Amino acid sequence: MKTAELRQAFLDYFKQQGHTIVPSSSLVPADDPTLLFTNAGMNQFKDVFLGRESRDYNRATSSQKCVRAGGKHNDLENVGYTARHHTFFEMLGNFSFGDYFKREAINYAWTFLTGDDWLKLPKERMWVTVYAADDEAFDIWNKEVGVPAERIIRIGDNKGAPYASDNFWQMGDTGPCGPCTEIFYDHGPDVAGGPPGSPEEDGDRYIEIWNVVFMQYNRQSDGEMQPLPKPSVDTGMGLERITAVLQGVHSNYEIDLFQDLLRAASDILGGASTTEASLRVVADHIRSCAFLIADGVMPSNEGRGFVLRRIIRRAARHGNKLGATQPFFHKLTAALVELMGDAFPELVRSKAQIEKVLLQEEEQFAKTLDKGLRLLEQDINELKGTEIPGETIFTLYDTFGFPVDLTNDIARERGLTLDYEGYEKAMDLQRERARAASKFGIDYNDGLTIEGRTEFTGYEHIDGHETIRTVIVGGEEKNAQAGDEAIVVLERTPFYAESGGQVGDTGLLTWSGGRFQVTDTRKNGNHHLHIGSVLEGELFPGLEVDARIDHARRQATALNHSATHLLHAALRRVLGDHVTQKGSLVDPDKLRFDFSHFEAVTPEELREIERQVNEQIRSNTPVATELTDMEQAQAKGAMALFGEKYGDTVRVLSMGLDDYSVELCGGTHVSRTGDIGLLRITSESGISSGVRRIEAVTGEGALQWMDQAEQSLRELARLVKGSRESVVEKVHSTLERTRQLEKELEQLKSKLASSAGTDLAGSAVEVNGLKVVAAELAGADKKALMETADQLKNKLGEGVVVLASVEDGKITLVAGVTKSATDRVKAGDLMKHLASLVDGKGGGRPDMAQGGGNDPSRLAEALKGVSDWVAKATA
Ligand code: ALA
Repeated sequence: MKTAELRQAFLDYFKQQGHTIVPSSSLVPADDPTLLFTNAGMNQFKDVFLGRESRDYNRATSSQKCVRAGGKHNDLENVGYTARHHTFFEMLGNFSFGDYFKREAINYAWTFLTGDDWLKLPKERMWVTVYAADDEAFDIWNKEVGVPAERIIRIGDNKGAPYASDNFWQMGDTGPCGPCTEIFYDHGPDVAGGPPGSPEEDGDRYIEIWNVVFMQYNRQSDGEMQPLPKPSVDTGMGLERITAVLQGVHSNYEIDLFQDLLRAASDILGGASTTEASLRVVADHIRSCAFLIADGVMPSNEGRGFVLRRIIRRAARHGNKLGATQPFFHKLTAALVELMGDAFPELVRSKAQIEKVLLQEEEQFAKTLDKGLRLLEQDINELKGTEIPGETIFTLYDTFGFPVDLTNDIARERGLTLDYEGYEKAMDLQRERARAASKFGIDYNDGLTIEGRTEFTGYEHIDGHETIRTVIVGGEEKNAQAGDEAIVVLERTPFYAESGGQVGDTGLLTWSGGRFQVTDTRKNGNHHLHIGSVLEGELFPGLEVDARIDHARRQATALNHSATHLLHAALRRVLGDHVTQKGSLVDPDKLRFDFSHFEAVTPEELREIERQVNEQIRSNTPVATELTDMEQAQAKGAMALFGEKYGDTVRVLSMGLDDYSVELCGGTHVSRTGDIGLLRITSESGISSGVRRIEAVTGEGALQWMDQAEQSLRELARLVKGSRESVVEKVHSTLERTRQLEKELEQLKSKLASSAGTDLAGSAVEVNGLKVVAAELAGADKKALMETADQLKNKLGEGVVVLASVEDGKITLVAGVTKSATDRVKAGDLMKHLASLVDGKGGGRPDMAQGGGNDPSRLAEALKGVSDWVAKATA
């Protein structure tokens, strides 16, 4: 059975058992700051397990894209060297949300693995583990399924703390968790290794294939295990592993999919053997890199982007080891798309973007590779002793993206060793800094737990008569008095809570004798939190209030939000399909839209984008909202945004002629495109590598912006004494005139200098047959001084000239000696002497020298002394 067939068989089986097939979620977890990358099938259902969210099914199955690199479950360093560690893999799973529990979960797994209609794996090869205290699971396996007791192993807390066990699964430091039972496959006595729990368990003989978790608790940051609302089931089976078992191979790299990928990599890398560890690294890494880029991650120096960068560089380095001298990694994209594009259409859509991003990163790394090598070379030359210091290793790694193993290779060639301890220390410090700066450490349970959900009425209404569910003051549920800052939760609300880049509503809650000013609305789980202060009266649960949003503000925001959709669509049409949204902010004053694109958007492109958006605005077509499911939405071509969370029902927004823009969105919008009035792009800039930002204004804001521009134009016209139409012409001619005047001024200056020169010739004194002139020429710059000195030399016939000027406390000095006299006096020597008298420096040729000085108070005396110096020099 091929990998793709196995994936389908699994989904089919669970569909038959009443499960809804749910598509894989993005690798970038939606709204979950506790998680770096999606690392298990259950991630997208986390809130369902916690009872914070409900779905219209209580059984689900999926094949989930997972990345385990850089987060809690990090396998990066092992990849390529073991039979089944991957940065990217697919997790097959079935889930029960308060529906079935242990008995059914175990039986489903067993039937799929061993049943005649399904995988038909030999029962006697199966071993299972259960959490030591879980007698119930033990008995189900033993008495009901019939697995002999000696093949059921109890595993207790074997990781140094209560509930820390191979058989107690948790997603992160906090969140849903529970005991689990794992199913192992015995690859037979030819392979080394012992059963789970034995000292030899790390061998390759007994391989865990399926983890069935009995989700029962929500772990708090203080370690407390809060029971979940309903016992649930979460299972995970690595698709690559189970395929290996079925195809009778021991290593995941030997399954059909990896063999194809390895062959493609080998072709690109000049025929490297498909069993080479480095080639396996490359074949593994192309999957995580391509899928991450398809899900909107870009290489960068922090967070998710940094992990992606490390994986790409690790691949590049291993390619180097196989002899690659040119970028090669990006070329593997085509083969991957061929192999996995059917199951994951996002790969097909993003193919060009993936290739571009990988190529750029490969090229960039090639550059730092050279720089890093030079730095290392230098450090080695200055090295005392035989150990490369940890700091150097760290700098190479951190600044030049230099993998430690490369540093180590080079060190070994020179008979040097690495100070790993020092490196680890520097790394720890760095990690500390990263942790402090990163938000991935925050406690998921910090939020408030409030029952039920707030019903949002704000798509249709701007006000309503509503009941207060709870009031929170200073983090505690209690009544709020006049003057209190408080958070109010209503049963229903017209207030939009900040999300999808759109700011939360503001407004007022009023009741007899009281008013509450809402300054912001935020989301918490399923609730809208009205944040603000009590102006008068008392607020308490059960109180009925009139809730009214600031409608003008909402409307201005809606204009910007709808315009953002049109802008997004225009960008893709004008710049290409690689454009995806990287972030947005929509408030009443403006819109900001960040998107992936590799170079600055040209003025022509910007004009075309603006033109298209305004054309759609003028079409004044109705904005259509439709509630549907994800499949239908995608069929319609709706753009889903990375990192956004979508439930069973999605809201599809279409606007413009012929559905110019179709997007999934929960925001509030205008009813016809014409409401937007006008869009003006106010700026375009780059915010990080490969990400651009456009800011724009709409409606009244756009008119104001144009008004201002118009006013500036009129003012400009007034200043150049022209009209609005002739202003450009006028400014041109004014600038031309300025250039001309500057030129004339130059000429005048030099004329002035030369006439001053003529005057000075008369003041020359005779010293040993030489005519000597030394004078200050006020207002002359260096050029004028030189010209005057030249003219004077001509006039004097045989002599010495020194000229000086002072500007802003700095002296400029020029000294000249006529050619005929240079054998007696050297201008350079004279200048050195002069400059030293005025706290300066100078020098030059025998016939012409220049210098400067910092002490104008001594200039007159220095000039007076020139004759004496000449007298001495020529005596
Ligand atoms: N969530 C469980 C795992 O990842 C099934 O192993």
